[in-house]
Amino acid sequence: MLNNLEKMQNVKTLKDIDVSNKRVLIRVDFNVPMDSHHNITDDSRIKAAIPTINYCIDNNAQKIVLVTHLGRPKGEDKERFSLKYIIKRLKRLLDEEIELIEDFEEKTDYINSDKSQKIILLENIRFYEGETKNDDTLAKNLSKLCDIYVNDAFGTSHRKHSSTYGVANHCTTNVAGFLLKKEIDAFAKALFNPVKPINLVVGGAKVSSKITLLRNILPKVDKIVIGGAMSNTFLKALGHDMQDSLYEDEYLEEALAILNEAKNKNVKVYLPVDLVITDDIEKPIDVKIVPVQDVLKGFKAVDIGPATVKLFEEAIGLSNTIIWNGPMGIFEIDMFSKGTFRIAHAIADTYAYSIVGGGDTANAADKAGEKENFSFISTGGGASLELLEGIFLPGVENLDKI
Ligand code: 3PG
Repeated sequence: MLNNLEKMQNVKTLKDIDVSNKRVLIRVDFNVPMDSHHNITDDSRIKAAIPTINYCIDNNAQKIVLVTHLGRPKGEDKERFSLKYIIKRLKRLLDEEIELIEDFEEKTDYINSDKSQKIILLENIRFYEGETKNDDTLAKNLSKLCDIYVNDAFGTSHRKHSSTYGVANHCTTNVAGFLLKKEIDAFAKALFNPVKPINLVVGGAKVSSKITLLRNILPKVDKIVIGGAMSNTFLKALGHDMQDSLYEDEYLEEALAILNEAKNKNVKVYLPVDLVITDDIEKPIDVKIVPVQDVLKGFKAVDIGPATVKLFEEAIGLSNTIIWNGPMGIFEIDMFSKGTFRIAHAIADTYAYSIVGGGDTANAADKAGEKENFSFISTGGGASLELLEGIFLPGVENLDKI
């Protein structure tokens, strides 16, 4: 029986249909990070959508309507979350004229009748209250702008919103863009018929947010490397006193159950053997490296230590497929970034097929200077997590299948 990821691979893409002289509405994910002056600090997501847009231009689509959200605006944040800061970069990358349309619901006739403007960008779709509620009227109004709906917003495909899900109920042709398909295929390659041994490197703050992932992936991998604050919960469950470190008391049993399941399935689990600890994360006065059994009173773990790095490097070096999801420590603070960066280098240095989850992990790979050296970096944080959890993404559910 096909699992969800394999089923999602059967989605139709732009290549399966004819876009010439058609109005195409593309849901993209231009939710990019910006500094306080509205400068885009990472435009990977915009760049990742370009092949799909270019394909529609090259294949003579009559009109291309781009839809995205930016951030999580509350009503009053319209200036901060406007796409006017995004459109400049998009124009430069596409080298095309693009018009930004506010209040599109009142301009349907203008958009549909205007033959001069080939590409338009609708203002932040989350300015519409109905978007995150999958409001059917909003979905229907979006569908009035197109003959073909394309979802290329992998990063938002885990959301059941009007522009990622509902709109397809009103369109007769619904397909995936090239980014969405590429993401699904990349994860499928790592999880089904991978070159073994296959290694899951997992980190981040909480075990609770990775339980489903661990349970779903465990039967498919040979090794699991666990770092980050989530390893504190495992260490605590094994009887270590983690002092003021972040751990989840209510998940100690679950952590032990996962270790047991791994043992029964012959999956080798690697946990930290030493840690970087500090008295204060924001204003550290004292920072030490200690074995996991010696975390000092009043201290908290903030990174993996050098012996752990060596141990993890060895485990990683012997893999042929690696899935990395979650940092090894608080890498946003320079002093506590070494473990995460060393693991990024270790994965990048292998000859393995390496796939990196989006969000924090992609950011860590970038900060480590290794962005170009992985086989694939996902553009979706939450979405890639849900893929690894085995969930059928809502943004793929309503698309046509082969
Ligand atoms: C993301 O950045 O993960 C996506 O753009 C989805 O954004 P959201 O978490 O606000 O839905």
